Amino acid sequence: MVTEYWKVDPVKPELDIIMQAAALIQDLQLVAFPTETVYGLGALASSSEAVAKIFVAKGRPTKNPLLVHVSKKEQVDSLVEEIPETASLLMDKFWPGPLSIILPSRKEVPATVRGGKKSVGLRMPAHPVARALIDHTGPVAAPSANLSGRPSPLTAEHVRADLDGKIAAVLDAGSTGIGLESTIIDLSQGKYQILRLGGLPLEELQQVLGDKVQITEKGRGELFRYQTGFRVIICQNEKELISQQEYWLIQGKKLAIVSSKPGYQHIINKSVSVYDLDLGQDSSNLYAILRDAEHHGIEILLFSPLPQNLTGISQALLERINKL
Ligand code: TXA
Ligand code: MG
Repeated sequence: MVTEYWKVDPVKPELDIIMQAAALIQDLQLVAFPTETVYGLGALASSSEAVAKIFVAKGRPTKNPLLVHVSKKEQVDSLVEEIPETASLLMDKFWPGPLSIILPSRKEVPATVRGGKKSVGLRMPAHPVARALIDHTGPVAAPSANLSGRPSPLTAEHVRADLDGKIAAVLDAGSTGIGLESTIIDLSQGKYQILRLGGLPLEELQQVLGDKVQITEKGRGELFRYQTGFRVIICQNEKELISQQEYWLIQGKKLAIVSSKPGYQHIINKSVSVYDLDLGQDSSNLYAILRDAEHHGIEILLFSPLPQNLTGISQALLERINKL
C-alpha cells in the first residue's frame, strides 16, 4: 500500500483535506492524525473490520483495548449506557483535552475496540485537526500511531518511520504540543483509578476528585516498556555520570547524554552527543530524543541526575524514564 502524506494547517485545517481523510476512514481505511498529545492511528470505531486493521498495522496484541475519540459529548451516548456524575464533571472540566475516561461500555461497541473488555475508553482530543476529522466521521478508535512497543510519535516523520506502507494516509500538522499521551482514569470499577499518568497533571484531577484518586501499579509501569535499541542508564549523581561516561567511552560504545538542566557541560566529553530534556510543565521532547538516539545508532543513553520532586506532566515523564 502507498501511504499518502497530506500537510494540513494545525490551527485552521483545510476542509478539502479533512474530507479526503474522512472519506478514507469511512471506507474502513486507517488514517494517522495529530492530537494535542501524540499522533493517533484512526479507524471507524463502529466497524470491527476497520478496527482490526489497527492491530495488524501496529503488531498490537488484540487484547489491548483502544481509546475511542469523540469530538462532541453527544457522541459518547452511542458508546456508553449512561454518563455517571463524576465522569460528566470531568468531561465538562477537562474536555477537550488530555484526559481519557474509562466507563462501562454499551454492548454495541465492537468487542475488537474494547479488547474484549466490558468497558470502553473515551477521549476528546483538543487538536483542531483531530476535532475536524471526527466531526466528519463520528467516533474514531485510535491508539498512538507507532509500532507496538515503540515510543509514541510526535511528528508525521515518526509515524512514517513505523507505519509507512501499512496505512492509507497521514495528516501532517507538524509536532504535537504536549508530547506525552493522555492521562487515563478508570471510573468503571466504582473507584477513581489512574491507569496512566500523562498529559493532564495529577494535581488537576485531585483538585476535582480529592485524594480518593489512586494510581495503579500497572499505570506506573507495564504500559511503558519500550523496545529501544540502546541501554538506558540513569545516573544518581554527578560522580556517577563522570564514571559512567568514562567507562563506556573506554569500552568504545556510541554514547549520548540526556541532560535535564544546564550545568553538566564541563564534564561532558566533546565526542559525546548531548540532548536537552525538556522538563517543562506542559510539554515533553522525551519520545523525540529516544527516536533520534535510535536513528543515530546510540548504544548507551546516559541520563544526568533527574530532579525527584517533580509536578505536572514532568512527573508522568519521570515515571516513563524510570521504566526505560
Ligand atoms: O494521548 C493518547 O491517549 C493517545 C492519542 C492518540 O489519543 N492515544 C493512546 O492510545 O495513547 P494507546 O492505545 O496507545 O494507549 C491507550 C491505553 C492502552 O494502554 C490501553 O490498554 C488503555 O489505554 N485502555 C484503553 N481502553 C481501555 C479499557 N477499556 N480498559 C483499560 N485500559 C484501556
Ligand atoms: Mg500507545
